[in-house]
Amino acid sequence: MATVTLRIVPSPTPSPPVPVHGVNGFPVVGVVGGGQLARMMQPAAIELGVRLRVLAESPDASAAQVVPDSPVGDHRDPVAVSGFAAGCDVLTFDHEHVPGPLLEKLVADGVAVRPGPDALRHAQDKLVMRRRLTELGLPCPRWREVHTWDDVTAFAAELSAAGGSGQVVLKTPRGGYDGKGVLVLSVAAGAAGGSADDVETAQRWLAAADADGLLAEERVAFDRELAVLVARSPSGQAAAWPVAESTQVDGVCREVVAPAPNLDEELAARATEIGLTLAGELGVVGVLAVEMFQVSAHGETRVLVNELAMRPHNSGHWTMDGAVTSQFEQHLRAVLDLPLGDPRPCATWSVMVNVLGGDHPDLYRSYLHVMARDPGVKVHMYGKDVRPGRKVGHVTVSGGDLDDCLSRARHAADFIRGVIDE
Ligand SMILES: Nc1ncnc2c1ncn2[C@@H]1O[C@H](COP(=O)(O)OP(=O)(O)OP(=O)(O)O)[C@@H](O)[C@H]1O
Ligand SMILES: [Mg+2]
Repeated sequence: MATVTLRIVPSPTPSPPVPVHGVNGFPVVGVVGGGQLARMMQPAAIELGVRLRVLAESPDASAAQVVPDSPVGDHRDPVAVSGFAAGCDVLTFDHEHVPGPLLEKLVADGVAVRPGPDALRHAQDKLVMRRRLTELGLPCPRWREVHTWDDVTAFAAELSAAGGSGQVVLKTPRGGYDGKGVLVLSVAAGAAGGSADDVETAQRWLAAADADGLLAEERVAFDRELAVLVARSPSGQAAAWPVAESTQVDGVCREVVAPAPNLDEELAARATEIGLTLAGELGVVGVLAVEMFQVSAHGETRVLVNELAMRPHNSGHWTMDGAVTSQFEQHLRAVLDLPLGDPRPCATWSVMVNVLGGDHPDLYRSYLHVMARDPGVKVHMYGKDVRPGRKVGHVTVSGGDLDDCLSRARHAADFIRGVIDE
């Protein structure tokens, strides 16, 4: 069983916000962005008696359907965001796309922005994140800032010379998600290899990049992907859930198993330590997800950090049904500087499988079969229109037998999606 940590780190400036906007002394938490993460904060907010407000992209956004106080506004518009913040005790996020300068201005105006812009930029910009990880001496794939195709091929040649595959992954530093903004190239050493399409895409990205350029990194031949999920409060308390294993298909998370099966205890402790170190060093407030690669070489297994997210994360959805404290409740506790909840799992295994949009727009018709067949499946739907490949919901099965949990959760997700009919 992976290590679970709950610790108090003394802080020089504990800062419980004094609520002024809620009713009966309860605070109002404002969430910028109305996606499924904001939506799933609502049940936790209801239980805690905390009022949630959402700055939504549209009146029918996933979270706007369940949070009555959801004004519509653009997260890049300083007037919309500061007007929204004026009615909240604490501001937090459903995504990391709010521009840094806008948040800095809010902080200067006295708004409690959690996580703050100094921490958040490490989740907004993959080059900033790679630089900081390298400064902190934390392990990540070999990387390079690149501006031209020559930079890319030179980097590939260096990787080959160092004994690697020479394969390069090119990433846009900002704005990517679900594999968008990630391009795996098979660039042969010193030559402009790769498929013609990829080379063309890479050159288009390079031409469109701003002065910072793009992130090129070594394509890692990983054993599997791990996710470390921690939460940290402004007072410096931190809690870590067990390390989970996540599986991505075409850059999109497909399923998560917690705790990661057969994970060496020392490696789990090391991965958790990296998550807690990052949360502390970057001054994260709220949930931090650290996506990692598990790699083996020369008889040694270690982890490399892939990327960071500073909000509840897909790799932590299992905690809603499988842990004492869900990531959504923990995020609210952390941004309100309340003592954190127990992150321990309540079952031996939890398996979460995403429901990705398929060919059938009507998901509800599957409920009769799924629920009758297996009353133990927990179904979560996001109120989103079905589009192929889009995350529209997830299911979780917890229990004592991993294979049983896996097959039941996969069956339910496939059935809801419409790819199987029995
Ligand atoms: N250096 C690498 N080597 C091998 N595979 C990689 C590498 N970088 C990314 N990948 C694969 O692509 C997936 C998506 O990459 P990454 O997490 O950087 O992009 P993203 O689109 O920002 O993802 P997210 O939706 O998590 O924000 C990873 O989960 C992994 O499967
Ligand atoms: Mg990722």
